[in-house]
Amino acid sequence: MAAVVALFVITLAVFSGTVAADPDMLQDVCVADLTSGVKVNGFSCKDATNITATDFFFDGLAKPGLTNNSMGSLVTGANVQKIPGLNTLGVSLSRIDYAPGGLNPPHTHPRATEMVFVLEGELDVGFITTSNTLISKSIKKGEIFVFPKGLVHFQKNNGEVPAAVISAFNSQLPGTQSIAVSLFAASPPVPNNVLTKAFQVGTKEVEKIKSRLAPKK
Ligand SMILES: *[C@@H]1O[C@H](CO)[C@@H](O)[C@H](O)[C@H]1NC(C)=O
Ligand SMILES: *[C@@H]1O[C@H](CO)[C@@H](O)[C@H](O)[C@H]1NC(C)=O
Repeated sequence: MAAVVALFVITLAVFSGTVAADPDMLQDVCVADLTSGVKVNGFSCKDATNITATDFFFDGLAKPGLTNNSMGSLVTGANVQKIPGLNTLGVSLSRIDYAPGGLNPPHTHPRATEMVFVLEGELDVGFITTSNTLISKSIKKGEIFVFPKGLVHFQKNNGEVPAAVISAFNSQLPGTQSIAVSLFAASPPVPNNVLTKAFQVGTKEVEKIKSRLAPKK
């Protein structure tokens, strides 16, 4: 599996050379100083004398994530926030686990194209183009699917066993906007009269969705 992931990252690195999402780097390494108050496009660099192998290491994708939540899925990021050494390198990974019936709900990544590689199980996946066409497919263990940068996409485990994927991104921090949560659980809230008109429903329906998606206290 490690070899597969490595191949994946290399492929993505080559790919991102021609379809760069993040800006190109200007030095060998710029390990993120995540505690620095200095604001730049990315993170400011740690002092070179303080860089260690730990800055380039993460074992957080080794085990399945817990999927006992309302969506039945969990995304575990392996981005610059977890691996400071990724700062300025323009790549990252995630692991996504899905319970049977689990959904990674419709969302977008504003800064990256995503490729998923199925580790276990089967998924129904899709994205929607700006001309409003759904491009969808069922994928299984060992298969890959691509979600183009910025387009709304989802993955659903319609199987009877858990599923898992590794996702590769051409950004150190792809960012995620989950459509339902962005619209119905923003803080401060999006006004009801925006949502009733957008979705062509009444205030009651909007409030019901808002209450279901409200962050758990
Ligand atoms: C290196 O890290 C140590 C411990 O975090 C810190 O005290 C020190 O100031 C750092 N050195 C430089 C040059 O940034
Ligand atoms: C999920 O399972 C874990 C471990 O079994 C437990 O600690 C946690 O509270 C559960 N979370 C929910 C939302 O049920």
